[in-house]
Amino acid sequence: MLDWTDRHCRYFLRLISRHTLLYTEMVTTGALLHGDRERFLRFDPSEHPVALQLGGSDPADMASCARLGAEYGYDEININVGCPSDRVQNGRFGACLMAEPGVVADCVRAMKDAVAVPVTVKSRIGIDDRDSYGELVDFVGAQVEAGCDALIVHARKAWLSGLSPKENRDIPPLRYDVVLQLKRDFPALSISLNGGVQDLDQACALLETLDGVMIGREAYHNPWILAAADARIFADPTPPPTRHQVIERMLPYIQRELDAGVPLTAISRHLLGLFQGRPGARVWRRWISEHAHLPGAGCEVLTEALPRRMRPAAD
Ligand SMILES: Cc1cc2nc3c(=O)[nH]c(=O)nc-3n(C[C@H](O)[C@H](O)[C@H](O)COP(=O)(O)O)c2cc1C
Repeated sequence: MLDWTDRHCRYFLRLISRHTLLYTEMVTTGALLHGDRERFLRFDPSEHPVALQLGGSDPADMASCARLGAEYGYDEININVGCPSDRVQNGRFGACLMAEPGVVADCVRAMKDAVAVPVTVKSRIGIDDRDSYGELVDFVGAQVEAGCDALIVHARKAWLSGLSPKENRDIPPLRYDVVLQLKRDFPALSISLNGGVQDLDQACALLETLDGVMIGREAYHNPWILAAADARIFADPTPPPTRHQVIERMLPYIQRELDAGVPLTAISRHLLGLFQGRPGARVWRRWISEHAHLPGAGCEVLTEALPRRMRPAAD
């Protein structure tokens, strides 16, 4: 998620769930081809399985960037066809591409030719007044024909004018029924649903019909919802770590990053929701918010922020 997630966030989430597939935020082809490639693509080996999401619409550029992603070791390359922001529309990528199924299909084809890892598409259910089910089927059909390995559908249409991207995250209403119908019409295609999923009960219910569930905001604000995913969804009986252990395991990583010049806040901001809904959550958040930005702040900010009763005990 742009401006929210990054490699530090993924490292942290991976300590909570070993099997959940993690995605990068959208990275534009321009940033990779003309910018600081290493900054956008580097990741820690422990982040696997991890998918790179690309924003762009030029098939040759998308293929070059997919190749770069595969060389860096990403497990999947995903195309963003869901972002509604103006900046993205001006660049002719993101959700506006739902109106150009052939362009997206050309990208899929070029990327499939370039890499061996799966190439997937994240779309909406429609845009503006182009939101008939028939148009969605045409869009999906074109991607299937081009070789798209899986589709993730944000079950809310995108308004490209009149709503801010922030408003468009909650309006108009979610339409899970459309995604479920899509699965009936494309039974051989791996289809994941995204949008509004708040807990694993809901995810498990959707997984009875669908192939995957993608969780965005809730996983960021309340990352502990991922802790039961390995057992419940991936049938891995290894017990999840405690929250306390997750912090302990973050500390060497944080020290390494601090030594490399990364400010503590760049990492600690992702940890604020760890105790969401638990005693001490407010103290945890407040302590980090008040101390992580101070000059010289280091790992001790986190150990001192741990709710006292949690320091020695398993949580
Ligand atoms: C701050 C923010 C940044 C986002 N950035 C991306 C992005 O880079 N790529 C993407 O596919 N979706 C992005 N999204 C959309 C989410 O991936 C997701 O589709 C949307 O929030 C609905 O799912 P949720 O209800 O589980 O959050 C972003 C959402 C937010 C709130």
